[in-house]
Amino acid sequence: MKAEVRAAVARARAAGHRIAVVPTMGYLHEGHLSLVDRARSRASWIVLSIFVNPIQFGPGEDLTRYPRDLKRDLELAEARGADLVFAPAVSEMYPDGDPAVVVAPERLGDRLCGAFRPGHFRGVLTVVTKLFEIVRPDVAVFGQKDFQQAVLIRRLVRDLDMDVAIEVAPIVRERDGLAMSSRNVYLTREEREQAQALFLALSMARTRFHQGRTRADELLAEMRAALESRPLVRLQYLEIVDPETLQPVAQVSAGAVVAVAAFLGGTRLIDNMVLD
Ligand code: PAJ
Repeated sequence: MKAEVRAAVARARAAGHRIAVVPTMGYLHEGHLSLVDRARSRASWIVLSIFVNPIQFGPGEDLTRYPRDLKRDLELAEARGADLVFAPAVSEMYPDGDPAVVVAPERLGDRLCGAFRPGHFRGVLTVVTKLFEIVRPDVAVFGQKDFQQAVLIRRLVRDLDMDVAIEVAPIVRERDGLAMSSRNVYLTREEREQAQALFLALSMARTRFHQGRTRADELLAEMRAALESRPLVRLQYLEIVDPETLQPVAQVSAGAVVAVAAFLGGTRLIDNMVLD
């Protein structure tokens, strides 16, 4: 399969195409499919990968129950205009089991989600590097939904001199504002209702910032109070950070990012919003 992908990409390139890759873990939703649209605006031949990458899941996380529906994903990807879907088996990506060589972040990987998911971004950067090597794309498209991931991937290509352009597309949301995620299917009806609180809290921070409030501690306190009023929401982190260093800011200026992670029952959700 890897060899077939390389051969198909080589043929597309010989025919003059510009190649894009859209990495996913499948169970596709409109957020993923919007990345295919973005890829289409930057390239003429699109590879969508579907791979639930075991090495980015920690012990006790949802690797074994991560939602999967390959048949439906293939239909959706094709209907949206993906030219090739690469859905390798674990044994194809990791034929020797755990890889002996990996790509790991330095301190940026310990902030936000990284503080609670040790090894997660090492798994992400390793599999993305492998996908880049297999496809050799001109451009790769990621979502702002996974803000820290997007920051780290920009640093990956910059710090390791990879010749791939990185595109980051906006968050696609449900009608009530909840960021689309494959994991939303885990939510019970009550959890699904209260999950809207994440978006509402982020929106409130943005409104306050537009009203001229720039003290991060004030904005965070107000958001925290709103989130704590929802009994099913268990906050993991809530921070306003610099979009490049991911360090918390005391004074908010345009471009700062509010980032949140919370559990609803056993389901961990993340969301973020740029204050601009
Ligand atoms: P996954 O969670 O499947 O997400 C695949 C891509 O879709 C990521 O770039 C993510 O940011 C983007 N995405 C997810 N939900 C989105 C939404 N609501 N709006 C816009 N974009 C959205 O992220 C991963 O998989 C993996 O870590 C991966 C990069 C594939 C490496 O294994």
